Formats: sequence, C-alpha cells, structure tokens
Amino acid sequence: MPERRPYVAANWKMHKTVEEAEAFLGEFLPRAPGPEGPEVVICPSFLALRAAVAHCAGTAVRVAAQNMHGEAEGAFTGEVSAPMLLEAGVEAVVLGHSERRQLFGESDEALAGKVPAALAAGLEPILCVGETEEARDTGQTDAVLERQLQADLAEVESGGLGRVVVAYEPIWAIGTGRTATPEQAQEAIGFIRDLLRARGGGDATRIVYGGSVKPGNAAELMAQADIDGALVGGASLDPEDFAAIVDAA
Ligand code: PGA
Repeated sequence: MPERRPYVAANWKMHKTVEEAEAFLGEFLPRAPGPEGPEVVICPSFLALRAAVAHCAGTAVRVAAQNMHGEAEGAFTGEVSAPMLLEAGVEAVVLGHSERRQLFGESDEALAGKVPAALAAGLEPILCVGETEEARDTGQTDAVLERQLQADLAEVESGGLGRVVVAYEPIWAIGTGRTATPEQAQEAIGFIRDLLRARGGGDATRIVYGGSVKPGNAAELMAQADIDGALVGGASLDPEDFAAIVDAA
C-alpha cells in the first residue's frame, strides 16, 4: 500500500482580510512543518490568495482557493477560473464544500465538470462530501456518499484519483462543535476508500475528515487507519490552534 502523506488544510471560509491573513501567516509559518512533515494547505478568500502565496514562498505550505468555475473563461459574472488561480500561484482548490452546496446551489452536475477541470489545469481538487443529520439518522449515509462521489468523480479516470483529496465532512458536524466520533469518521472514510478502490484508485488518495476538528480531538481522529488528515474550519483561524492540529497529524 502506498504511504500517504498526512494532509491538513485550513478552510478560512469568509474570514480574514489580507492584513489578517498576513498576520496569521507571520505567526504560523515559523511553526509550520517542512517538506518531510504533513502537507499543509491554507485556503483564504480569493482576495487574499496572492498575499498568502507571497508569504508562503520558500516554505512547504501551499495555498488553495475555496471554489472555482469549471470553464477556463466566459460570461460567468462573479466567477473565477482555474487559469486565474494558477496565475496567482494557487496549487489546490476546495470543491463542493457543503456550504456551497447548501447555500449557493452547487450541484453534483457542476462538480462533475469542476473536478476534472481542476486536474487538467494542474490544480489539486479537495472534494468535499458528507451527509446531513437527517440522512445519517435514517441510515442513508453510505448512499449519500456514494451518490456524491460517483457523480462528482464521473469524469475522472482511475489514474487521476490519487491526485484528488477527498474531505469527508458530515454536515451535522460542521461549525457545530459536534465532532463525528473517530469510529464514525473511520467508518465513513473507509467506505469512501472502498468506493475509490472499486473505481481503480483509492490507495493513493488522501481522505481527510472535517467537522469541528480542534486541537483536543485531532490526534484521535487522524490516528484512524483510513483518515489521512483534516479539513479545519473554525479552529484554523487561530495560528496556535491550527499549528497544534498540524502537529497532531
Ligand atoms: P469547522 O468547519 O471545522 O468549523 O466545523 C469545517 C469545514 O467546514 O470545512
């Protein structure tokens, strides 16, 4: 089985101005691991991407966007494309976050175009999937994950699966302080890995957990066999907390 390098990403959502992003990186970067340690990715707002890239230059920390359009250019007011992100020095992109799916109507159909577009451009997609509380309570978790993954990765060939990072983020655990137990997270992520294996990939794919990850619960979650890291929202806004989570990976 290939060794999977741990992966920890900070999803800042709609937080941090350029000035605040720079202040964070000024504190965090001296504590960040080098190329031998866990892979660390910071996901600021579009406007703070260039400043973050400039600050992270010469370190092992990489920068990701939180969304992109599937087309390279066109009449899509308010959107940003893969070539624009690449030009800014961005190396990865979060796709299909549940807030985008729930609040902004992001569809599996759109994601089926975005994931291969990101790969083709040389951006690493961080594809988010996860069930609602209702789906979990009614035993639909696996069905939801399978539907999302089959749809969102439909146009990705098996050889490309190792270049995708999948974030399992149960919606009921995001920003709620209610973390999935390590067993629940492992079970869902093990299921995702089996799905990817059935598609001819999976062993090389980093699959991370997201949903109220904190310094106090990160180590136990990331110690699970199939959990390769974390996508961190709230706790990633504080350089001390995020550094502690990275140290646990
Ligand atoms: P949270 O967010 O850590 O604040 O729960 C995680 C996410 O939405 O990626």
